Amino acid sequence: MKKLALFGMSLTFALAACGTKATSPAATDDAAADSGAGTDDTAGSDAAVQDTAGTDAAALKDVAADVGTDIATDIAGDVTSAAKLASIARGKYLIDAVFACGVCHTPKGADRKPDMTKYLAGSTSYAFPMPDGTTNIVNAENITQDAVQGIGTWTDEQIAGGIRTGVDDQGVAFWPIMPYPEYALLTDLDVQAMVDYLRTVPANANVVPSDTFDPPSGDPPVASAKDSAIPHTTLAKSDPQFAAAERGRYLATGACIQCHTKEISPGVADFTMAFAGGRQHKATADAQLATSTNITPDATGLAGWSIADIVAAIKGNTNKAGQPLCDASPMGHGWMGDMTDGDLNDIATYIHTLPPIKNGPFTCYSK
Ligand code: HEC
Ligand code: HEC
Repeated sequence: MKKLALFGMSLTFALAACGTKATSPAATDDAAADSGAGTDDTAGSDAAVQDTAGTDAAALKDVAADVGTDIATDIAGDVTSAAKLASIARGKYLIDAVFACGVCHTPKGADRKPDMTKYLAGSTSYAFPMPDGTTNIVNAENITQDAVQGIGTWTDEQIAGGIRTGVDDQGVAFWPIMPYPEYALLTDLDVQAMVDYLRTVPANANVVPSDTFDPPSGDPPVASAKDSAIPHTTLAKSDPQFAAAERGRYLATGACIQCHTKEISPGVADFTMAFAGGRQHKATADAQLATSTNITPDATGLAGWSIADIVAAIKGNTNKAGQPLCDASPMGHGWMGDMTDGDLNDIATYIHTLPPIKNGPFTCYSK
């Protein structure tokens, strides 16, 4: 924990840059089949699979069109089952919409929109101010199938392990800006779906700049979040909306907690203050410090918001008054606004029925 203990400071985000080459993906057939039933939450995921994934060539073409390449050519040989195809489509949905991995792993162009020529090829950079006045830069890696710059040579287990435990193929822990402590609570099926989809992401040889410090190998990664630490909906089990809210809890744990919860130390969320805001971000090196808002239903948060208001905010990247949210928010179309109506409703039902926590109020650019 040496490297983590050093930084009691707020985290800032900056921007960096990014090419193409091909390796052949080594997808396996057992993928979708080998994961356990997981938790009760799995039910929600299954429903979304049906929502988003077709099981035929048309679905594959859709996935290919969205990625902007003919992945049919790259992976058709590996797609041996409808289950595999559904898993790939589910993985794409989770990566692009629900968890918006590209917020960090796809660079932004001059127009501040994601540069899709460098899709998942890195990087947004994160600048961590150090007590001695210097700044450590941490970059979100190239996670395309490039064998040299990306994760083309990693095994499925290594990729899944990276997502869930924050350790790379050499056993070195990641900086916990990546929300792996929360991703640890995802089901085996969903993690495998993301691995299956990442196998289809065309190799891109974009070179991500090195971090400006040496990660001390041997340091353990940040511990996984515990399910018992994540608040449940305040709805009674008998409430007709209870199941929707608990499906929302599963999604929001990976998608929303990291940004909307203050940290105890870098990457370690204070779950007693889950969703109560106050985490600070800096979208680019020269941007203002942005603070996330309290999204619990307290007067300092979203009291007075309806479920529909919350859905509208996620879809439109706007606040209740319809004003656009600041750049640090990853909602709206292109990211979390592209979730299915069912998932948006589940998340909003959960957020709307969280235990209220007094904290703030914060506005994005308040100090
Ligand atoms: C808030 C930013 C952020 C988000 C969101 C994020 N990552 Fe990361 N990720 C990073 C950073 C930064 C690193 C590199 C950490 C380091 O160098 O210590 C990383 C590293 C990785 C690695 C290891 C790559 C390597 O070569 O070492 C994988 C795999 C990965 N991320 C996958 C994902 C997936 C899949 C998602 C979405 C489910 C995701 N990440 C979401 C910031 C993020
Ligand atoms: C990358 C960080 C990040 C992630 C991930 C994130 N948010 Fe936010 N969110 C922010 C920031 C920063 C703001 C404040 C924007 C502003 O005030 O202009 C915000 C604002 C909001 C608002 C508007 C609150 C208000 O008072 O106007 C809602 C609602 C919201 N987020 C819900 C969510 C939900 C639900 C999720 C998960 C699906 C989520 N956010 C994921 C950073 C994030």
